[in-house]
Amino acid sequence: MIKPHGSDTLLPRFVYDNARHAQLAKEAESLPSLLLNSAAAANAVMLGAGYFNPLAGYMDKADALGVAKNLKTVGGLFWPVPIVNLTKEAGVKTGRLALRDPNVEGHPVLAVMDVQKIETVSDDELKLMAKEIFGTLDEKHPGVQTFLALGNTLLSGPIDVLNFSYFQSEFPDTFRTAVEIRNEIAERGWKKVVAFQTRNPMHRAHEELCRMAHERLGTDGIVIHMLLGKLKAGDIPAPVRDAAIRTMVENYFPKNTVMITGYGFDMLYAGPREAVLHAVFRQNMGADYLIVGRDHAGVGDYYGPFDGQTIFDEKVPAGALDIQIFRADNTAYSKKLNRVVMMREAPDHVPDDFINLSGTKVRQMLGQGIAPPPEFSRPEVAKILMDYYQELDRKA
Ligand code: ADX
Repeated sequence: MIKPHGSDTLLPRFVYDNARHAQLAKEAESLPSLLLNSAAAANAVMLGAGYFNPLAGYMDKADALGVAKNLKTVGGLFWPVPIVNLTKEAGVKTGRLALRDPNVEGHPVLAVMDVQKIETVSDDELKLMAKEIFGTLDEKHPGVQTFLALGNTLLSGPIDVLNFSYFQSEFPDTFRTAVEIRNEIAERGWKKVVAFQTRNPMHRAHEELCRMAHERLGTDGIVIHMLLGKLKAGDIPAPVRDAAIRTMVENYFPKNTVMITGYGFDMLYAGPREAVLHAVFRQNMGADYLIVGRDHAGVGDYYGPFDGQTIFDEKVPAGALDIQIFRADNTAYSKKLNRVVMMREAPDHVPDDFINLSGTKVRQMLGQGIAPPPEFSRPEVAKILMDYYQELDRKA
């Protein structure tokens, strides 16, 4: 199986040893504690699950700046997005610190941190990082908005993770750690695996992208890996998306070709940089390929439609990652060919030959209980989305 990023075996920060887990939980009761913001909590969950292998914890300023500017830590590890614990809290001291979960009632301890350094990051330094990560400083960009509001105090050091926040309880069938996915791939006997990132329900284009990648790459299986954390307003919540994806897979994919899974992370909307982060953690979960299509992890029109692919040529040095990307062109249903195609493979087509609906138009139709055409969306998927939007519009 493909090796994890930066080490021979996966080094998840979750404490699997029961005795040590109990001892840390006990220790945490008497430690000073910090209520995390959601971004830092999501980083802890990803570190715990092995997705951020080989990182042991939160980056210090030199690493965060190095990663933001050059996709490299001071020690030379290739890494695309700073993994940080920025806080507004003053008064944190170096040493042991219990990290509390902002997303679970009662704010239970999520992890125990060894705070090795406490550094101030100036507003200018934060902006410098944001500009590198998101390619813009526009405060309307949801990722920039979140990042610039995290705080100016950077806590760095290793963490030991005690649980997976709300992801395991709210998505018991879907949330998986990188450790679990690696194990399941091995159990299924899959030798070559393609991963599909998504934060949306899967329409025909998404479905066919998976099928095309699977067939053309000759993989044994597809791991659909959906984001289960926070999204910007207007995006479809994870439970609805999960139901839509499950229905689609059950009805339209042969048994044992697809694993439906998810990870606990908040969407960054960092476009190309996030595409590279996506590749890193798909390698960690054992995927050989990641599908990267149009406007991967994008929002608005901040990124070019294929920046998520070209960054792999421009900013990922040869050999930095073992995982490869499957580059998908804009994909849509061709009325001429009666199937979903990548546009670059239908050079004789004009725009009218494709069924192309805007997100806004689809949203409007679903809210009115009108199913998009079956060439755009499977009827079973459309039904779930119509129910969701009609309920939402009734409440509004
Ligand atoms: S993302 O933020 O998770 O990237 P989304 O769930 O919409 O958003 O996309 C999942 C993957 O499918 C991404 O790789 C994206 O580039 C790709 N994709 C989605 N729709 C299309 C399309 N019509 N044509 C080509 N690629 C697409």
